[in-house]
Amino acid sequence: MSKVWFFVGFVFVSVYVPEFESKVFTKCGLTKELLQNKFDRTLVGNWVCLIESESAKNTSKVIVKANGSKSLGLFQINSKDWCKFGSKGGKCNIKCEDLLTDDISDDSVCAKIIQQELGFRTWEGWMRSCYGRKLPLPSCPNLSS
Ligand SMILES: *[C@@H]1O[C@H](CO)[C@@H](O)[C@H](O)[C@H]1NC(C)=O
Ligand SMILES: *[C@@H]1O[C@H](CO)[C@@H](O)[C@H](O)[C@H]1NC(C)=O
Repeated sequence: MSKVWFFVGFVFVSVYVPEFESKVFTKCGLTKELLQNKFDRTLVGNWVCLIESESAKNTSKVIVKANGSKSLGLFQINSKDWCKFGSKGGKCNIKCEDLLTDDISDDSVCAKIIQQELGFRTWEGWMRSCYGRKLPLPSCPNLSS
């Protein structure tokens, strides 16, 4: 009896498509991340509500506005005023592209600048879903103090 071995060569065709790592946070994941990024603890409930309303906690959300500007990322930061495509710029001195990654440190610094300058009410999503509500820190296990 002879054994016949079939060798099957698999050809893997991999096409490299540069893609943003889109991250969708859970409510508690987001709460922890905001605390790590030094958001004022008493305001984290408001930020979580704002982000749920603006981007559904999705770091790669992009909305093209009527005036051609784009609202980017978790906080839906607008490209016209706050960042620049291709190089650092805007009032936050950041690259707009960086607002779509799963690293939210630049987003966080910029969101705080916007909030200090214009307040939460500049975010339509905050006005719609969070304004006037009592929004305590979400209760999550193992929050840093
Ligand atoms: C997050 O947003 C991106 C860009 O809009 C989208 O392609 C992706 O499907 C979204 N992820 C989820 C889980 O909704
Ligand atoms: C464009 O629209 C966005 C969102 O409505 C706003 O934040 C931004 O200031 C506007 N920019 C200009 C130049 O009109």
